[in-house]
Parts: sequence; structure tokens; C-alpha cells
Amino acid sequence: FMSSLKAFRSSFLDFIADPFYVSELESVRYIPDGLLVLEDGKIKEIGTYDSLQHKYKEISITAYPGMLIMPGFIDTHVHFPQLEMIASYGEQLLTWLNKYTFPTEGKFKDKTYAQKVAAIFLDELLKNGTTTALVFATVHPESVDAFFEEANRRHLRTIAGKVMMDRNAPDFLTDTAETSYQETKALIQKWHKKDRLLYAVTPRFAITSTNEQLQIAGRLLQEFPDVYLHTHISENVDEVAFVKQLFPESQGYLDVYDRAGLVGDRSVFAHGVHLTDAEFHRLSQANAAIAFCPTSNLFLGSGLFRIETAKSKDYPVKVGLGTDVGGGTSVSLLQTANEAYKIAQLRQQKLSPFQTLFLATLGGAKALNLEAKIGNFNPGKEADFVVLDPRATPLMAFRNSDATPTSLEELAERIFTLVIMGDDRAIHATYIMGGLVMGNG
Ligand code: GUN
Ligand code: ZN
Repeated sequence: FMSSLKAFRSSFLDFIADPFYVSELESVRYIPDGLLVLEDGKIKEIGTYDSLQHKYKEISITAYPGMLIMPGFIDTHVHFPQLEMIASYGEQLLTWLNKYTFPTEGKFKDKTYAQKVAAIFLDELLKNGTTTALVFATVHPESVDAFFEEANRRHLRTIAGKVMMDRNAPDFLTDTAETSYQETKALIQKWHKKDRLLYAVTPRFAITSTNEQLQIAGRLLQEFPDVYLHTHISENVDEVAFVKQLFPESQGYLDVYDRAGLVGDRSVFAHGVHLTDAEFHRLSQANAAIAFCPTSNLFLGSGLFRIETAKSKDYPVKVGLGTDVGGGTSVSLLQTANEAYKIAQLRQQKLSPFQTLFLATLGGAKALNLEAKIGNFNPGKEADFVVLDPRATPLMAFRNSDATPTSLEELAERIFTLVIMGDDRAIHATYIMGGLVMGNG
């Protein structure tokens, strides 16, 4: 029995409540010298090294002195086929899609090609400490098969889906309402809940789906009530205006999705930069989630997300962070948190270091309705975690030359440097289900 046990000694940080709503004392769990004990890839217990070590004298302990172990990062919105077109110059959303995105996505009809990119993409996620992601594939079922095969090979908890788009896109990238229904249904039956994999019904956005196709997406959600709905909303002003023109009978952008039955507690809407107050309220009421994608919103000039409205106490909306690569400019959730902080700054708002890392972990898990399985170190959860090195670069070592933080105040300063200065170099190791998959053991 002892052979299935593993333990790690280091500093540990996770969240046991939401620091947007309760104090740091109530939401942050910090153990400067802790022991994390795993059994069969799941968390058995966590506590101080002193209090637990006597119980586990027989098992070998992996020690990470000077490091900080956190739950794996969660990317609540990203496009795997767009990895190769990251940093495409000069356009805003609609022209960027036509000029760069659609031609690139056309390549993913080729399963072999899709498989190659999926492998590069997932390794890149793991190098950046991202252990779960909600992922757009392309319109091609082959791209979904390729992605899920590679994700499953790595035992990852990921959510993905075939893009549904039947208008306002090149012929080589469009399906029809009927084929999108058949193909999505077959993919759900093939992949949803296979090992750790989950499926998201994925209409690209209201511009590229007819109302008929959106209704079909709603029908799929009714037929398969535990799959997700993943789409984009209110990212760019020209997009919002175009949607208004395409759906004149609707009350607004969210209402287009609402009328198709797409707004529920398993729905994740990327961006939401230009949502109205009424739309935030509706998302709150439906317990739907927003993926806040700061690097993308800045890169594509989309605008500044109203995080304080989304996280208001009266109308709370679930929020996770999305890298939105290739509209986003980094696969790193540390860099994404960095830009989330800066967007708040531009709006005279303050995101605390703990709040940014909550969004990247437990907040993301809640946005994806996965908080029973991942997001923190509660016993029984799946042991996906990341070993952070606060001294990963010479400058970070200089900045963080002090000893391990002992108070929350010292910890806040330390993790803020990780958020602002950190990237893949600060990811010392990544573990999936208790097994080392990237970095140093
Ligand atoms: N809206 C519709 N499609 C996309 C996409 O691929 N990226 C982003 N950022 N927004 C979108
Ligand atoms: Zn996107």
C-alpha cells in the first residue's frame, strides 16, 4: 500500500476561497514548510512538514527547497491551431481573423499536421505550468481527434471542441447546421468523459453562425446536458455592431446566444470586453463564466475588461484567465496575470497578487465547473501542480534574495514578482496526476 504514496516538501500556496469576496486570511492557504502527500495521483493530505512527517517516515520525499508549489494553472480560453500565428501584426479582430487566422486554420484538415501542432501546443502549455485548458480546435473533426489523442497521451484534464461556423468565413472553413450537428454529436460520443477529457460545443461566435446553427448548438446542449458551451462574446466594437446588424431582433449580443439556449452554468464566454451591465447580470443569474483574456485584449486593441463589474458582490460572474493564443501573446498564465493587473491599473482598479493567481487556479477551476477535481490542494483532488522558482533568472534572484516569506504580506510581494517578471523560466517543474511531465524532479 505504501508504494502508491508520494510526498513533496516545499512551500505551498493555494486558495480555499475567493479573495475577491473574502479576506486574504480566509482565502489564502500558505504553508512555508509543508508536506503534500499524494496517493494514486490524487491529494491525500497537505499540512506543515512538522505535523505530517512522522506519519510518512517510510516514503521517499521529493524536496524543492526555495521553491513555491501551486496548483497547476488553468487556461480558460485558447486556440491550439493558432499557436503558429502568434504575434501576427497590425490588425484588429475582424481583419485579423480574415488575414491571418482563417488561412492558418485551413491547414488543420490534415490530421497529421493537426497532431504535430497539438503535440507542440500541449508541451508548451506544460512548460508554462498550465495543466488544464479549455481549447478551440478548428471546424475539422480531425483537429479535435488529433488534440484529444495528444491530450490523453499526456493524461491531461482538458476540454475542447470542433468549431461550428456556417457563414462569413471561407468555404474551406465552413460546415453547415446539419453537418455541425452530426460531427459534434459523434465527437461528444467519442471523447466526452473519456479518461480526463471533456467536450465543449463550440460555435465560433455569432458572426460566423446562422441562427439555425446556434439553435442546433442549443439542441446539442439539451441532448448532452453535461458538455460545455464555449464561444466568444463582445470582444471588439466592430464585432458587436456586426452582430447587431445580423440579429436585429435580439436585445443584444448575449441575447443572441440566450435565445438559442446557450447561456447556462456550463457556458464559457471569451472576452466580454463590451458587455453591458444587464448582460453581466444575466451571466451572473445563469451562473455562466467569462474568460478574461488580457494579452489578447491589448494586442488586438479590443479594450479593457471590467473585472470589478464581473467580480461584483451583487452580481458575481465566474471569471477565469484565458491566454487566447494566437490573439493572445503568451502561453504563460503568469504573463497573462501580469497583463490582467495592468488592465486593472488602466481602469484605476487594483488586482491583488493573490487575486491574479486565484484567477489562474481555483477561479479558473470554478469557471470550468471543475473545482471538485482541480484548482487547489484539497484532499481527493487530482494532483496537477507546478513548482515555481522565484529566483529563476538573475534579476529575479536579485529581486527575491530574501529568505522564504513567512507572512502573507511577504508572500504577496514574492508572488507579485512572479506574476510580473515570471514566464516559462519560472516554471521549475510541472506534475500531472502526481507524475513529473516537464522540468526538474
Ligand atoms: N472571435 C471569433 N473568433 C476568434 C478568434 O479566433 N480569436 C479571437 N480572439 N476572437 C475571436
Ligand atoms: Zn479566442
